[in-house]
Amino acid sequence: MLDFKGKDILDGAQFTREEIEHILDVAEDMRERLEKNRSLNIMEGYVLGALFFEPSTRTRLSFETAMHRLGGSVVGFASAGTSSSAKGESLADTIRNVDQYVDVIAMRHPQIGSARIAAEVAESPVINGGDGAGQHPTQALLDLFTIRSERGQVDGNTITLCGDLKYGRTVHAGVELYKHYDCKLIFVAPDALKMPPEITARLRDQGVEVEETTDLEAAMAEANVLYMTRIQKERFEDPAEYKRLKGSYILTREMVERINPNLTILHPLPRVDEITTDVDDLPGAAYFRQARNGVYVRMALIALVTGRM
Ligand code: NCD
Repeated sequence: MLDFKGKDILDGAQFTREEIEHILDVAEDMRERLEKNRSLNIMEGYVLGALFFEPSTRTRLSFETAMHRLGGSVVGFASAGTSSSAKGESLADTIRNVDQYVDVIAMRHPQIGSARIAAEVAESPVINGGDGAGQHPTQALLDLFTIRSERGQVDGNTITLCGDLKYGRTVHAGVELYKHYDCKLIFVAPDALKMPPEITARLRDQGVEVEETTDLEAAMAEANVLYMTRIQKERFEDPAEYKRLKGSYILTREMVERINPNLTILHPLPRVDEITTDVDDLPGAAYFRQARNGVYVRMALIALVTGRM
């Protein structure tokens, strides 16, 4: 029996394949239960602390929805400006305090490694909802859940990751999950935004087939799954550099229909201009279903780390 009770969820690399599948199976169970009932009573009496020091729509609201649908309740904040960090309180102190009130913490913070700092000081399990350009494991799990549900299985797919692979935390976490599966990975990025070379080298050392290219159309022709990402504007020191790179890759309906109409298209969202809106009603455009899946996966994680499942 896998036991997640009390565990922090910090990094895509922390999981074995068996653990990943268990989380996805519990998420599938949550989906089925929610199809029968609007809410469950698994987390009755429990409180989630949702601490968002950085902007978020989907991650925060799906964590909150997940806890409400599990029958629990939520406290928290949606920006650093409304918390005592605006008065100069350290992250560790904020966490130590919130830990006195809640049973589980979901946190997003602009600094790489912040979730680990939080986990070190908190008794309650900490779930990383994004630490700067570092990791975003819950997103990666819901991406995998979506691939499994859209394609039937994860093994056997060629997955193209396109856009800002340097600063994108969702892809940094994602590759740590995909590496457990029989998948070929194709990285498509402008030279300045390539996947950090140490990550690519490590994946190859671990036996993952990885191809790097700047040619999106060629990668689309070979892929079953295309994962588009936003250029991470907030991570750039030089606004001119962002301006130069924005719009590097734009997926249009014409491209999908011409090159590979069977492609499953994912995006963690928010989208800026990477996917034109005429793609949205193609059958393979899965990004809004993907956002919905975030609720099931976060329900599973909350229930698992609190020992309620
Ligand atoms: C992503 C993030 O915050 O890293 N969004 C999300 O959580 N769904 C992707 C992004 O902001 O580009």
